[in-house]
Amino acid sequence: MEFVILTGASRGLGAAMAERLLAPSRRLVCIARTANEPLAAQARARGAPLDHRLCDLGDVAATAALVQSLGEALRSATGVSRFVLVNNAGVVEPICRIESLQAAALARALQVNLGAAMLLASVFLAATEAHDAERRILNISSGAARHPVSGWSAYCSAKAALDMFTRCIAAEHAGQDNAPRVCALAPGVIDTDMQATIRAADRIDFPPIERFRKLKADGALGTPEAVAARIVAFLESDEFGVREIDDIRDH
Ligand SMILES: NC(=O)c1ccc[n+]([C@@H]2O[C@H](COP(=O)([O-])OP(=O)(O)OC[C@H]3O[C@@H](n4cnc5c(N)ncnc54)[C@H](OP(=O)(O)O)[C@@H]3O)[C@@H](O)[C@H]2O)c1
Repeated sequence: MEFVILTGASRGLGAAMAERLLAPSRRLVCIARTANEPLAAQARARGAPLDHRLCDLGDVAATAALVQSLGEALRSATGVSRFVLVNNAGVVEPICRIESLQAAALARALQVNLGAAMLLASVFLAATEAHDAERRILNISSGAARHPVSGWSAYCSAKAALDMFTRCIAAEHAGQDNAPRVCALAPGVIDTDMQATIRAADRIDFPPIERFRKLKADGALGTPEAVAARIVAFLESDEFGVREIDDIRDH
């Protein structure tokens, strides 16, 4: 039995990954603010264990309560050969010039993109330490972690920090028994709500907007289903975690 925790499973890339991960031999815990009824229906049809938790990962108190309950579920799990955490939930907003950043929106973006992922990794590592099972953490990163984009300072900075956090997990566990395999993975450009948000931004706030409109017009965006298929295959493979900072387009 595998035990997988996946954030941001209500739509976009996360929903597509969740659908591929549904299996009777896999206990899947999904997290998002909203439900995913088609996923629940698929799970019932396939006899796949699915536990969808509603949580706002931008809310520190709600996230703390969630991680406590997940810790208990992980600690008490039996018959698990592999534990997996996929930190996929993310927000590109606020999209604006640095001069216009507002405290509340900035704190929220950093919490969803970085703080929640760090806390989930923390409880995941602590609660699975005593289990005799393999452990994998996949942090969904972005090309924006590795190249600055005007208008995306909050997003770029949070994703760059997520890359570094991934390296810190590897460094802290290097040489230990049952060290987790970890990877911060850029998924490429995908046709999701996040891209629609990007294309709807203000040109003043987001100077490179035309590049993103052209990608959509040219049909150059990956579908969530195709990208999810590649990521899930990579996650399950021996290649996973060989490079801590990776890009699915290289596989
Ligand atoms: N799309 C791209 O081109 C692209 C490119 C590079 C990297 N990425 C990364 O890929 C990941 C998935 O992005 P996507 O394009 O699939 O985005 P999306 O379509 O906007 O979906 C985002 C997911 O994150 C969840 N989420 C957002 N805020 C949340 C919150 N406060 N609490 C809990 N869940 C929250 C959403 O669920 P709820 O709204 O139901 O809460 C949703 O399931 C993100 O990490 C993103 O940065 C995407």
